[in-house]
Amino acid sequence: MSSTHPRQSIGVIGATGVVGREMLSILGDRGVPADSIRCIASERSRGKQVPFGQDMLAVQGLDETSISDLDVALFAAGSECARRWAPIAVDSGAVVIDNSSAFRGDESVPLVIPEVNGSLLDGFQGPGLIANPNCSTIIALMSVTPIHRAAGIRRMSIATYQSVSGAGGSAMEELERQVEEHASGRAPTSNVLPSQALFNVFAHESPVGPDGFNEEERKMRNEGRRILDAPGLEITATCVRVGVPRAHAMAIDLELERGLDAAEARELLAHAPGVRVVDDPESGRFPESIDAAGADEILVGRFRNHPDRSDQRGLILFAAGDQLRKGAALNAIQILEQLPATPCPGGATGG
Ligand SMILES: NC(=O)c1ccc[n+]([C@@H]2O[C@H](COP(=O)([O-])OP(=O)(O)OC[C@H]3O[C@@H](n4cnc5c(N)ncnc54)[C@H](OP(=O)(O)O)[C@@H]3O)[C@@H](O)[C@H]2O)c1
Repeated sequence: MSSTHPRQSIGVIGATGVVGREMLSILGDRGVPADSIRCIASERSRGKQVPFGQDMLAVQGLDETSISDLDVALFAAGSECARRWAPIAVDSGAVVIDNSSAFRGDESVPLVIPEVNGSLLDGFQGPGLIANPNCSTIIALMSVTPIHRAAGIRRMSIATYQSVSGAGGSAMEELERQVEEHASGRAPTSNVLPSQALFNVFAHESPVGPDGFNEEERKMRNEGRRILDAPGLEITATCVRVGVPRAHAMAIDLELERGLDAAEARELLAHAPGVRVVDDPESGRFPESIDAAGADEILVGRFRNHPDRSDQRGLILFAAGDQLRKGAALNAIQILEQLPATPCPGGATGG
């Protein structure tokens, strides 16, 4: 957001969670202009302190008073909370950017990755709702959109390696506790995720539908098609958790409409905004979750043409991205930064 585009009051709803805390950190680091930052969570957290830059801010409980008079409401508090409270925030004049899946299927609500379909924000006039896509969908589409634009993706098959913090702060704490339990010779215990995260790989915990796909896999398909405006695009995903605290990785296998050499794909990604190519076969350096954690860019590498296709219409790559940053908090704040300035009486711009 430019300095001529101030927002008077920004609320973070879910400020005690892993995404909400990341939002506060990014708002401070990027110097997003704001007259006030309001930290909101459930009644359980009323009065808790959360860090914002050098300061500590007191958390307010979510109610009619705390949600009112916000210019921008960044929601990171789950679908149920968003369904109930986001319309109330909009009615009281806010632009709401929601991280949950509550409004992602609503055709009247823009579903935006700024580098991919940011033009949807052109002319957006608040108050109103904008949805932040699913974290794995963001990481996948950041990695393949330049390829899609150059060669057209016909089919996309994805296998994810998703970190436990994707299931929230309590899942991350559970992994840390399991490390301590193991180190002290005790059996690791699991109360948050359905399986032990430490030393393990297991199917994503979201509900499995009658077609056998879990909800995360369906989100990648439905949201990917919507964001790329490609309703016929074949997308399948197999989503799993790995015992990693932070950052999701994924293998992506593409069938293209037109041939594209792996070296050309690498070159396209090297110039793509928000992407860093990590692809050095000689030294064995490729995208890793540990390098993606805390980074703003999506790491992409291991570009390979399908060995059994002479037409170069099969391309395979590997990506890793911090799902708390680009997969959630950073993407939401980039949306905020890209919103058109609100004209004020007298010609100034403002909240
Ligand atoms: N974690 C990720 O990687 C990720 C990525 C993309 C999108 N998301 C989405 O972002 C949202 C937040 O996820 P998270 O991982 O940050 O979860 P989290 O660590 O469990 O935090 C949840 C936050 O929501 C607040 N909250 C829950 N119910 C509430 C209610 N009824 N009223 C007010 N506040 C309420 C919690 O407050 P208390 O502390 O007071 O309970 C907490 O601040 C979810 O919609 C999630 O699907 C998460």
